[in-house]
Amino acid sequence: MIDVRTGLGWDNHRILEGRPLILGGVSIPCEFGLDGHSDADILLHALTDALLGALALGDIGMHFPDTDPRWKGASSDQFLRHAAALVKDLGYTISNVDTTVILQRPKLKDYRLPIQENIARILGLPAGRVGVKFKTAEKVGPVGEGKSGEAQAIATLWKPSA
Ligand code: C5P
Ligand code: MG
Repeated sequence: MIDVRTGLGWDNHRILEGRPLILGGVSIPCEFGLDGHSDADILLHALTDALLGALALGDIGMHFPDTDPRWKGASSDQFLRHAAALVKDLGYTISNVDTTVILQRPKLKDYRLPIQENIARILGLPAGRVGVKFKTAEKVGPVGEGKSGEAQAIATLWKPSA
């Protein structure tokens, strides 16, 4: 028998002129970025929450409070690495992850492969087990009006059941 678990993650940050735009650990050339205490990488934050959710271990803010000066400007790959280490410690293997970034602009499709490869490297997975998708918000709502960006993630874990 196999013990299979699924976790869901979502994140949303405001857009701010002059901030770096970092998605999936990859720097995207753009005149704006996402505001936040850490590097505001919505994609890695959503993915971290998906892994924590699958383990029922709370959320990213519980593990890395945004009031803690240690995480100011922090590179978000350490949040994802922490969640991936918990997955391993509890005996689970990541089967696959899938993600969507919702940002009106810039066009992100040219960055799909570097983002996919970077997430795969952090999680120790083949790139073929990491889905990376992009959507506009059709110019509607805060994302569509360029006020914010969102990311969604889902992760499936498994381990042999006792
Ligand atoms: O949102 P919409 O369905 O119009 O997006 C069409 C395609 O544009 C997506 O499938 C995606 O590949 C690409 N896209 C992108 N960068 C964005 C939003 C969408 O490359 N910021
Ligand atoms: Mg966040």
